[in-house]
Amino acid sequence: MEFSIKSGSPEKQRSACVVVGVFEPRKLSIPAEVIDNAARGYLSDLLRRGDMEGKAGSTLLLHNVPGTEADRILLVGLGKEKEFREKEYRGAIATAVKTLNETGGFDGTIYLTELTLKKRDVAWRVRQAAIVVQETLYRFDQMKSKKEEVRRPLRKITFCVERRNELESAEQALAEGQAIAEGMSLTKNLANLPSNVCTPTYLAEQAEALAAAYGLGVEILERADMEKLGMNTLLSVAKGSHQPPKFIVLKYAGGKKDSKPVVLVGKGITFDTGGISLKPAPEMDEMKYDMSGAASVLGTLKAVAEMKLPINVVVVVPTTENMPGGGASKPGDIVTSMSGQTIEILNTDAEGRLILCDALTYAERFEPACVIDVATLTGACVIALGHVVTGLLANNEPLARELLEAGQDAYDRAWQLPLWDDYQEQLQSNFADMANIGGRAAGTVTAACFLSRFAKKYPWAHLDIAGTAWKSGKEKGATGRPVPQLTHFLLARAAGEK
Ligand code: BES
Ligand code: MN
Ligand code: ZN
Repeated sequence: MEFSIKSGSPEKQRSACVVVGVFEPRKLSIPAEVIDNAARGYLSDLLRRGDMEGKAGSTLLLHNVPGTEADRILLVGLGKEKEFREKEYRGAIATAVKTLNETGGFDGTIYLTELTLKKRDVAWRVRQAAIVVQETLYRFDQMKSKKEEVRRPLRKITFCVERRNELESAEQALAEGQAIAEGMSLTKNLANLPSNVCTPTYLAEQAEALAAAYGLGVEILERADMEKLGMNTLLSVAKGSHQPPKFIVLKYAGGKKDSKPVVLVGKGITFDTGGISLKPAPEMDEMKYDMSGAASVLGTLKAVAEMKLPINVVVVVPTTENMPGGGASKPGDIVTSMSGQTIEILNTDAEGRLILCDALTYAERFEPACVIDVATLTGACVIALGHVVTGLLANNEPLARELLEAGQDAYDRAWQLPLWDDYQEQLQSNFADMANIGGRAAGTVTAACFLSRFAKKYPWAHLDIAGTAWKSGKEKGATGRPVPQLTHFLLARAAGEK
């Protein structure tokens, strides 16, 4: 899709379709009013006759509207003006794009970006619009033998802004939105792939491809390298699988030489059967998504590289399958992590923390400004927060606040849970330094408590994306979250570096 930004009168646009909004009940938005005036009341007549109420999600496609230069005018219902917020705005853009894609025109000129939203400027509206376009048109048909024929003439979208002095910030926001959208698409593609295709080896190849495309540093550690480093906790998860584990390191050096990097760590379990502590069968297919953390840090790095952000970022992905088998770890086994701390594996299904803890220890060598790990870590997080927000826990309050704010800015939100010492005792083990589970109570917190024991040497935050990384049911598919949140965090950090 080609995008551009423009400022100008809606009735004068020579476009296949001009898109304007209508509030409920029957209230024209400002650009719609301008068209109505040029068309001598053509639109207000239609509303009066009851052809369009303005309900959210509704549309009315008009051809050859008098007094206008466009082939078509598309009216998009916005719902009640008083209730028009971020969600409604995104919904209106999605409806517009879906309809444009089904009409015959090559291009669309969208005026919805001129609608005002509380506390959201033109840059926010344009950035979000670019992302919503990608989300709306995204299809995952790589694995279908016959691709669904999408007759898609729509090739170009123009977003309009009210004033010429908004053009510059809108252009910048458009570039950011496109970069975020591309990062999200990569994340979704990797996550949606089945585990027999998206193996640890496949992820390593994709990381190498990303490195080649953007000139990044890349290093793939093999099992033997991990053995040498003493990554026994990570290896204890890989033991049951026939797929070799990989430890992926990518380096983006956009910042000053001496500026400390932000390190992003992504959980890369390409399939989580639970291991010997086997998961029940229903919905187990969704455990192909257990590498969504890995996919999201790779997608974020792509967005950062696309934008050429002046910041240093290191991405670390420990990746393996979690399988049962003759060689698999068994409940009660005790392993020594790279940090030297010993762990009693009471449940082999709490494997995410086992691969992450060695990655967190490894991250020390980068002398990070901060480390953020991203993981589909606990079912308990889905129970606590549902599918709306990501769980956030951190050993550093300013970092937590930065991430919460980035989530708000990106409209890809997170909610903080307490990482208080009171919870640490749940990890007590009679036989090792700690157990890998802390009982049913506060499962998301105790998982983070476990990780915190390996993240003492730097400011650290943990994003539990178990509820937000993918959708189940009829709409089953990866969401691309939290790429927008992480990218906004890095955008803000990069702005602070200058
Ligand atoms: N990958 C799962 C967490 C998960 C489950 C994410 C369902 C999304 C949906 C993780 O490895 C896991 O199995 N966690 C266990 C931990 C428990 C054994 C302490 C869980 O949440 O049940
Ligand atoms: Mn598990
Ligand atoms: Zn898992």
